Amino acid sequence: MIKRQKYGDEIAKAEILIEALPYIKKFSGATVVIKYGGNAMIDCQIKKMVMQDIVLLKYVGLNPVIVHGGGPDINKMLESLNIESKFVNGLRVTDEKTMEVVEMVLTGKTNKEIVSMLNEIGGKAIGISGKDGKLLVAEKDTANGDIGYVGKIEEVNIDVIKMMLDKGFIPVIAPCAVGKDGKTYNVNADTAAGKIAEALKAEKFILLTDVEGILSDVNDKSSVISRIDLDAAKELMTTGKITGGMIPKLKCCIQAVENGVKRAHIIDGRLTHSLLLEIFTDEGIGTMIGKECFDDDNL
Ligand SMILES: Nc1ncnc2c1ncn2[C@@H]1O[C@H](COP(=O)(O)OP(=O)(O)OP(=O)(O)O)[C@@H](O)[C@H]1O
Ligand SMILES: [Mg+2]
Repeated sequence: MIKRQKYGDEIAKAEILIEALPYIKKFSGATVVIKYGGNAMIDCQIKKMVMQDIVLLKYVGLNPVIVHGGGPDINKMLESLNIESKFVNGLRVTDEKTMEVVEMVLTGKTNKEIVSMLNEIGGKAIGISGKDGKLLVAEKDTANGDIGYVGKIEEVNIDVIKMMLDKGFIPVIAPCAVGKDGKTYNVNADTAAGKIAEALKAEKFILLTDVEGILSDVNDKSSVISRIDLDAAKELMTTGKITGGMIPKLKCCIQAVENGVKRAHIIDGRLTHSLLLEIFTDEGIGTMIGKECFDDDNL
């Protein structure tokens, strides 16, 4: 008892670690694809904590694979070059000049910032784009008319990711794709991450965004849907409650789960240590999408 008082704080910390044991055991060796959204990346402090969480995941035996967005960085650069940003149904209209800037910013700036932070904290990260090793092969996406070099992913070649994971690296992927015509294509980061999660048959696919989860009323932060199964998720897509950037997000979660990913999660990347809360606690956070969902099931 004396010992307990003397080491009270330390014992409490040790107990927290022990609480995570079932999850560490469950996910040891598991692949987790994490999409880090551009809007949740703006705060430097939070960004650093997300990177710490990712390095911790790696050290406790999970295999995180990062796919990032970069909307705010791209907008800033386009603005400084006096190039107007235009969007159709949430997709960036990408002419040749814009594509050049998108690739330059995503692969040269955003990607390398993430890689540097992970390495600084003690991870071993390598940054690539979807063009490396032909990871992402795309065709022009014409579903929204001609909006330039916006790509629809046709092929995913995961050898390059597997090679990095085998050697203990954390892959960090910028969502640019190579076209079948040899050109470069801009692909939605959520969609790219979902396709990669499918190809890797990931245990978890986690999207870190700038909202609490899927809201049944977008104006009410307390209306987070905490669990949703495939049928209900497909139904939700048709209700008009899902708009803007949430459309590709929910769509790619549905597809990923349909194609073998165990669980998809949309969580708040602005919340301190949201990744750890999701993976290592009973409650989990945000929205979980699974083939079937049970009330007591957070795994
Ligand atoms: N039903 C909904 N529930 C929650 N968010 C919704 C809903 N419908 C639309 N949204 C919008 O989706 C946004 C998230 O998508 P957005 O594309 O902006 O972010 P991101 O994908 O994380 O970042 P990036 O596109 O830069 O990678 C939210 O900020 C919210 O405005
Ligand atoms: Mg988005």
